[in-house]
Amino acid sequence: MRKKVTVVGAGNVGANCALRIADKELADVVLVDVVEGVPQGKGLDILESGPVQGYDVSITGANDYAPTANSDIAIITAGLARKPGMSRDDLLFANNDVVRTSAEQVAKYSPNCIIIVVTNPLDVMTQAAFWASKFPKNRVVGMAGVLDSARFRTFIAEELKVSVENVTGVVMGGHGDTMVPIVRLSSVSGIPLTELMDQAAIDRIVDRTRNGGAEIVKYLKTGSAYYAPSASAVEMAEAILKDKKKVLPCSAYLEGEYGIDGVYVGVPVKLGAAGVEKIYEVRLTGDEMAMLKKSAASVQEMVDVLKQKQ
Ligand code: 2OP
Repeated sequence: MRKKVTVVGAGNVGANCALRIADKELADVVLVDVVEGVPQGKGLDILESGPVQGYDVSITGANDYAPTANSDIAIITAGLARKPGMSRDDLLFANNDVVRTSAEQVAKYSPNCIIIVVTNPLDVMTQAAFWASKFPKNRVVGMAGVLDSARFRTFIAEELKVSVENVTGVVMGGHGDTMVPIVRLSSVSGIPLTELMDQAAIDRIVDRTRNGGAEIVKYLKTGSAYYAPSASAVEMAEAILKDKKKVLPCSAYLEGEYGIDGVYVGVPVKLGAAGVEKIYEVRLTGDEMAMLKKSAASVQEMVDVLKQKQ
């Protein structure tokens, strides 16, 4: 039997997730959105690419969750982008409502699924989905580290004029200005990055990675990135659907790892059929640990704001 993935939110990220899942023939997809007609229209359009692209999967759109029943994975992309005059907290509250409702509905219809959260502010929204779904922590995971690492790897490959496939890089911490690219653990086919680039170039790339989302927003003006974010979410979905045991940086619920407790933060994890099957506790230098703690504290601050409101 084919696998089934629910994609919540038929905007640019959600629709591209559906398209990539179809292109890779990973699963049937149900695209859910509150806007009438949009998930149905985009779903049908993707379905009709099947004969040309050569995939046999079903793609349907819906405005309610009944058709999502018994999904293996739910990718939550729904949420608002920040509008002029809106504070960070306004966005936090608005998206919290969207993510909470989505996670509750997903959990009701697919009690055994694994939830991948993409909505921003990422780590906090993953925590909101964790609370709302009442799922165990291994079945709720956030997408950010894969995207941030992809950007980091892209910039390194560009600078060194080497294949992106040879570049490994891990970005930890929250998905925001405080994210922590771990330069020490980045390499090009095993050659440490620090032997290939001077500190000034490394600093420039780290900085560009931290601002990778904003760089795209600046170009697009009215929206944020969606090609790389959807590619990243689908890499995670594929790892789970195929039980690949991929080691990827993802937002995971920490309970004492890295001395951080009770908050979702980006760390390297093993992704397989059970979701987050292992959290890797990498030995960090004092500076790296300080940056990670600072990043976790900024996530915790927003989590506290949400808790106060509840
Ligand atoms: C990004 O980093 C908006 O979080 C999204 O592009």
